[in-house]
Amino acid sequence: MLFKQQAQLRQKLLVLGSLAIGSVLYLVARVGTLESPIPGPEQIPLRSIQFKRALLHELRRGNGTKEQLGLQRLVQQLPQAIIIGVRKGGTRALLEMLNLHPTVVKASQEIHYFDNAKNYARGIEWYRSKMPFSFPHQITIEKSPAYFITDEVPERIFKMNSSIKLLIIVREPTTRAVSDYTQVLEGKERKNKTYHKFEKLAIDSSTFEVNTKYKAVRTSIYTKHLERWLKYFPVEQFHIVDGDRLITDPLSELKLVEQFLHLPPRISPFNLYFNATRGFYCLRFNIVFSKCLAGSKGRIHPEVDPSVLTKLQRFFHPFNQKFYQITGRTFTWP
Ligand SMILES: *[C@@H]1O[C@H](CO)[C@@H](O)[C@H](O)[C@H]1NC(C)=O
Ligand SMILES: *[C@@H]1O[C@H](CO)[C@@H](O)[C@H](O)[C@H]1NC(C)=O
Ligand SMILES: *[C@@H]1O[C@H](CO)[C@@H](O)[C@H](O)[C@H]1NC(C)=O
Ligand SMILES: *[C@@H]1O[C@H](CO)[C@@H](O)[C@H](O)[C@H]1NC(C)=O
Repeated sequence: MLFKQQAQLRQKLLVLGSLAIGSVLYLVARVGTLESPIPGPEQIPLRSIQFKRALLHELRRGNGTKEQLGLQRLVQQLPQAIIIGVRKGGTRALLEMLNLHPTVVKASQEIHYFDNAKNYARGIEWYRSKMPFSFPHQITIEKSPAYFITDEVPERIFKMNSSIKLLIIVREPTTRAVSDYTQVLEGKERKNKTYHKFEKLAIDSSTFEVNTKYKAVRTSIYTKHLERWLKYFPVEQFHIVDGDRLITDPLSELKLVEQFLHLPPRISPFNLYFNATRGFYCLRFNIVFSKCLAGSKGRIHPEVDPSVLTKLQRFFHPFNQKFYQITGRTFTWP
């Protein structure tokens, strides 16, 4: 008797088990098929991930059925928010992490519309054509870190949308400058070219003062650039993201961005898991799809003479104070 019951139980578990595996396989298959649901002649070039996620999102809400779901409702929207900088501040990580939000769709490439004269001359419809497909209730975000430091950009963005939201992700300025240098250095090394030492570029050899002509130094004077932007946009339209904290505690930073963009809080601990091998957080979009940011994002910096670092920190100090004062966000930079 007991034996028979056990056998029945085993049978039940087996059925339940295969059902569970079956539904996972079904889901995987579904995600797969959603990549090519195109009816009609005009093929939509799929930015597959976003597109898929958007469709899945609608499907999950029971809002429409399967493949045909609202394809005609997909639009290419101009960005409602732009990550304008800064270079080496963590703009890619920020964009990828915001893209975890079901209401956010990212432009995959840096478009360089506003900072590049040739692109800008192509006009706003060219810019729009570079945007990903999205549903009307979603928002589009692009990032091009050159925007922050390019003189013409604030006015041009203002002309497109004077109420646009602007995100700036910053790191401690001296670290950022070294990181900026490291990226250029690696580019040279890949081409077997030699390059100056950081110390030589950052310090003027005749005055022994900080060389403000060096681009990596100038980019780190955040307040100077921000002041140019403030001629067009009120400070409320900017949100400052702490790039150092985005690495160690991404969720807290992302919650602040959700608030700033008036998005419902949707990015959760599920979406971010720490990978101990990398020492970085990786992104989990759903049970099927996750990804880690490219390895080059955690470059090892070259050794720099500590006295040069100190000189730079002293140099940036008053600019940092001004930056805190203007933005209302204080950092523990030296
Ligand atoms: C579909 O989603 C929209 C919001 O995007 C909502 O207003 C509408 O009620 C939904 N329709 C159905 C049938 O669930
Ligand atoms: C301008 O940006 C704001 C803020 O994101 C957005 O609400 C508005 O729809 C945008 N306007 C246009 C015309 O895109
Ligand atoms: C750089 O130099 C190394 C060793 O001298 C050589 O093997 C490599 O092919 C070179 N790479 C390029 C891009 O010239
Ligand atoms: C963690 O990072 C390592 C090294 O980059 C990688 O091989 C591995 O797949 C990652 N694990 C997860 C779960 O993402």
